[in-house]
Amino acid sequence: MLPAVDDGARNLDDALALATAAVGNGIEKCVLTPHMHEGRYDNTAKSLKGHFDAFRDTLARHELDLQLGLAAEVRIGIEVLIWLEAGLVPFLGDYQGKPVLLLELPHGQIPPGSDKLTRRLIDQGIQPMIAHPERNKYVIRDLSAIYPFVEMGCLLQVTAGSVVGQFGPYARERAAELLERGWVTILATDAHSIDWRPPNLAEGRMAAAEIVGEAESWELVRHRPEQIAAMHFGGPGPGPSDTAGTEPPG
Ligand SMILES: [Fe+2]
Repeated sequence: MLPAVDDGARNLDDALALATAAVGNGIEKCVLTPHMHEGRYDNTAKSLKGHFDAFRDTLARHELDLQLGLAAEVRIGIEVLIWLEAGLVPFLGDYQGKPVLLLELPHGQIPPGSDKLTRRLIDQGIQPMIAHPERNKYVIRDLSAIYPFVEMGCLLQVTAGSVVGQFGPYARERAAELLERGWVTILATDAHSIDWRPPNLAEGRMAAAEIVGEAESWELVRHRPEQIAAMHFGGPGPGPSDTAGTEPPG
C-alpha cells in the first residue's frame, strides 16, 4: 500500500484506492509490508519511515478510518543477518516475546541454506514467519518442502487470495492443506494493486471458514494478527477496535 517503494502502489492515488478498498473489505488495521529485497527494493526501516509517516498523515486528512503499522517482507538471503545486526529491518510484531520477521522465499525455488538461515534466526531469538509458502513452486510440487520450516518453529502467513483460488488451483489446494493441518498462523492480503491484487481478506476468511470453521477463521484474520501486531497499535493485547463487532458471537 505504501506508495512508490516497491511493486505495490505506484503513487498516492493508487495507495489511497488500496486503503479505501481495505476499509471496504472490513479491514481496520493494516501492517504495511513493503519488500526488502537486495538489489531490487533496497528499502530499510529508516528509508521507509518518512514515506510511512507522510502516508499516515495523508490517510488522516482523507478521513480514512484505517490504522497503520510499518514492517517489511524480507527476501530470504544471508544479507538478512547483516540487516538485522544493523537494525535495518522493521518487525511485523511480537510472538511469545520474540520479534517476528516476515520472510519471503523466491517463488521458483527454496534456496539451499534457507533452513539453516531460519534456524539461525530462531537461535538468535527471532521468530521467522514465512510469507505465502502455498505459492512457492517447490511447495506446490510437494507440500513436504515446507515441513523443515514448520518443524523448526517457523510461522506461516498464507495469502487470502490463495484460499479463494486467485493464484490458481494448485496454490489453492496447498493453502487448503496447510489450513487443514493447522499450520497457518495468519491470513494476509498481500495487496499490491487495486486491479490485480486488491485487499480481499473477507473473501479469504470466508473460504478458510469452510475448512477450519468460523472461530478459527476469525483467529486467522483478526485475533492472532492483532496480538502479533499489537506493538504497532499502542501496546499489547487487543486494541479498541476489537469491540467494533462485525464478528458473529461464538
Ligand atoms: Fe511476497
